[in-house]
Amino acid sequence: MAVEGKSVPSGRMTPYTPKAFPTVDGAVRSRAFIWSSIGTKVILAITGVALGLFLPIHLAGNLIIFAGAEEFNKYAHFLISIPVLVPIVEIGLLALFIIHSVKAVLNYLSNRKARPSRYESSQWAGGRSRKSWASTTMIISGLSLGAFVPIHLIQMKFGPYYSTTVDGETVRDVYRVVVETFASPLNVAFYLFCMVVVGMHLYHGFVSAFSSLGISHPRYSPAILWAGRAFGVVIGLGFFILPIYVAVAG
Ligand code: HEM
Repeated sequence: MAVEGKSVPSGRMTPYTPKAFPTVDGAVRSRAFIWSSIGTKVILAITGVALGLFLPIHLAGNLIIFAGAEEFNKYAHFLISIPVLVPIVEIGLLALFIIHSVKAVLNYLSNRKARPSRYESSQWAGGRSRKSWASTTMIISGLSLGAFVPIHLIQMKFGPYYSTTVDGETVRDVYRVVVETFASPLNVAFYLFCMVVVGMHLYHGFVSAFSSLGISHPRYSPAILWAGRAFGVVIGLGFFILPIYVAVAG
């Protein structure tokens, strides 16, 4: 490439080279993309969708609680008995959770930097707009879930180990852990609050992931909006009924 009559070796930055995506090589370009604002949004969307896929599976498994202690413990034991599945899922979830959280905070900070002065008054967009309470509080709901997940894991996954027998086999009594957790009204209230937050986060996250991935179309957007809303409500509500059921019937 010639600049002011001089030959510049390929890959050298010149004042004319766009800084966000230097034309050096693929590795530098992908690194620049990953840390760019659009790259951050795309990674947020992909990791969000992947994390979101875990929740219907987790909810379906948890709904076995309605079938009683034995069925639920059998299911929990079946899961951990599948070779390498649990470590792979756990490492994957942890990596996705960390990347998603870091990118969410970076995205929030870069949005704030792009708009340094706060508006005099907060204007709500019209009824058809996607600017809802859920979207403007995405970072708050996300941070709340960031606090919920470790507490949840300490209570359930790393909670007390009780043994029980299912089909002649000694297994962990996970059902008892769930029942003991929801025997405390404080825990029930905490979970109910967090499940509303989960629903809201999914509701907006779903819609915004589609738009970040460029899957936004005037004709299909209303359907995407409704699908996101339905996903948030179904998953949020599904998890919401569990602490109530266990507290009452457990
Ligand atoms: C009322 C709602 C919920 C109940 C009763 C529940 C129950 C449980 C139980 C019993 C376990 C331990 C399973 C075992 O060790 O065998 C677990 C693990 C887990 N839960 Fe939940 N859960 C609920 C909601 C959620 C939500 C909303 C999230 C995420 C936002 C979540 C994320 C996880 C994760 C990441 C694990 C660890 C999975 C693994 O290590 O393989 N849970 N849950």
